[in-house]
Amino acid sequence: TTPTSSRKKEHLRICCERAIEAGDAGFGDVRLAHNALPECDMEQIDIGTRFLNTPLGSPLFIAAMTGGHPDTMEVNQLLARAAEHFNLGMGVGSQRAALENPDLADSFSVVREEAPSAFLCANLGIIQLRDHGIEWAERAVEMIDAQAIAIHLNPLQEAIQPEGDHDTGGCLEALRNLCREFKRPVIVKETGSGISAATARDLYGAGAAAIDIGGWGGTNWAAVECLRASDVGLARLGEDFLGWGIPTVVSLREVCSTGGSVIATGGLRSGIDIAKSVALGACLGGMALPLLKPAMQGEDELFAAIDTIHRQLRVTMFLTGSRTVQDLRRTHVYITGITRQMIENSY
Ligand code: FNR
Repeated sequence: TTPTSSRKKEHLRICCERAIEAGDAGFGDVRLAHNALPECDMEQIDIGTRFLNTPLGSPLFIAAMTGGHPDTMEVNQLLARAAEHFNLGMGVGSQRAALENPDLADSFSVVREEAPSAFLCANLGIIQLRDHGIEWAERAVEMIDAQAIAIHLNPLQEAIQPEGDHDTGGCLEALRNLCREFKRPVIVKETGSGISAATARDLYGAGAAAIDIGGWGGTNWAAVECLRASDVGLARLGEDFLGWGIPTVVSLREVCSTGGSVIATGGLRSGIDIAKSVALGACLGGMALPLLKPAMQGEDELFAAIDTIHRQLRVTMFLTGSRTVQDLRRTHVYITGITRQMIENSY
């Protein structure tokens, strides 16, 4: 295995075993208007939706996590089985390791084998896109026969990683070229620090088909890198930036105000949070960490976790009188506290 590959395994271990969530995504400040007289049958509620012209079983998206080390194969296999069973969209983790060393491609291609009909999203960092161009994007898509590609942005993690890339010049231009030439939709995602309205305008302007906000308040890469760092200075730097980022709810409001398709990730921890995200304007609500833990335990645990999330979503839809996800988007949302203050200060 390569350094990129070993890092993938280390990340997975740290995320499962250590406390790597920090902050508050803001869902506690969001309330949906309760409907005391819902004129519908809860069991008949349709939680299905569409994303980029694809029908999906629900707005739950299995967010990009892993692949690239032989030991990540089984997790990807189970996540893919769940994507196929529930007809959920799924992203794989960064495919860089397998693009550097094709022997590692199995841990990604297993996802398409297990999920022949699911909506799959390839994954590549913006730096790798800039440095290797459209050819790597094409190889990433081919590896899993993906319907779309996600280009991830992670400047915070790069800044505090010992092996991080500190020069992001030319990335927007690389993205613009990809969006112009690529045959599949390009989704741009953050990984835990959120996206502002200003950045969203740049990304949609470059041709992004959707933005996954990857907001602050869930998995925290400063925390992960802090635990990985053997160098005391870097560990401290990670600690200093635990609080850096735009909380998911604030980022969601900002990006939705610019008008494009949005996936909400970062600290969504229940079907209620998914419902709140949809009511705030998202098409889908993605989860990484809450699905990783049951996926490490086994298929039954993972399927049960998804059933629970779907039940929470269904009950929330019932209590807002929403027969469909489209109805849910029209539900009134109350926003209070620091989340409201930040939204009022959005620019
Ligand atoms: C991630 N995430 C991620 N994102 C990405 O674009 N490429 C990647 O390779 C990874 N790798 C990765 C590994 C692990 C173990 C986790 C938990 C997460 C980020 C992920 O897709 C998501 O945006 C954030 O984790 C926020 O969601 P949660 O974890 O708070 O639900």
